Amino acid sequence: MLATPTITEEIQELKRDRRAIILAHHYQETEIQELADVIGDSLELARKAQSFEGDVIAFCGVWFMAETAKILNPHRTVVVPDRAASCSLVEGCPPEPIREYRRRNPDHVIVSYINTAAEVKAESDIICTSRNAVQVVNSIPADKTILFLPDRNLGNYVKQQTGRQNMKIWQGACIVHATFPARRLLDMQAAHPDAVVIAHPECPESVLRYAKFIGSTSALIDYAAKSPAREFIIMTESGVQHSLRRDSPDKQFYFVANENCNCSECPYMRLNTLEKLRDCLSNLEPRVELPAELMERARLPIERMLALR
Ligand code: 13P
Ligand code: SF4
Repeated sequence: MLATPTITEEIQELKRDRRAIILAHHYQETEIQELADVIGDSLELARKAQSFEGDVIAFCGVWFMAETAKILNPHRTVVVPDRAASCSLVEGCPPEPIREYRRRNPDHVIVSYINTAAEVKAESDIICTSRNAVQVVNSIPADKTILFLPDRNLGNYVKQQTGRQNMKIWQGACIVHATFPARRLLDMQAAHPDAVVIAHPECPESVLRYAKFIGSTSALIDYAAKSPAREFIIMTESGVQHSLRRDSPDKQFYFVANENCNCSECPYMRLNTLEKLRDCLSNLEPRVELPAELMERARLPIERMLALR
């Protein structure tokens, strides 16, 4: 009698049959990351989606990331394990006020974080990620007024790094990073005085001021691997543990819980499971579908960002 295939075997077989690639963000469960063809931050995953050659992208991340992959691959199929995998930044930045802002301020430059809906991207001049936000803003002529959206903490960090005065910032926030309390970080530092603090720029300034290094998820993982330090306090979602431990097996990592759930997990990212990954590869649902005209308008600001090296 043939043995029943494991879920991992089922996924691998479906992946071959569908000519699919599995892209996984660092915030996914370890078991998903172990099956992924590419693990990365949002910029690396967008670049991979841009150069991909199969038929199907199974995007293990959140919906806006999959939308970005679809916009870059309008004729390919992009599926996500769970349709409800959204993001508080997307939810807090609806397209209508941005359209209205654009109508009223046609000369302003709208810089949108990749954590936005496709409809918001379509109203934007250029997209950025946490990895390149400073570079993107520095690429805009100094006399231009900028609207940066939707993350206020990333916006404040970029404003401080670039010294831009004429920069308005949308007041959105990440429900994970914005609620990391500085006092818990200080308690953690007291318990581990040799640990180096490294943080994602979506954290509030009250946390970022203690960070020796600030960067995207992949940048934090690279920094920890190259640093001579042996212990780190990591101010981002705890899914990064997978790559931190893989790249720095002999180092110690401590995470600070947020106030809402006493954890450091993104509730949207964690909706994706191995079972749902198998099912989305099998059913090709939930699938990203966007009007062609919307994709065309949203593609331009994404491509402007990807052209910056
Ligand atoms: P990265 O740009 O590091 O991928 O971060 C994306 C994100 O959603 C952070 O919360
Ligand atoms: Fe959005 Fe925050 Fe989750 Fe990242 S961690 S996907 S910014 S809610």
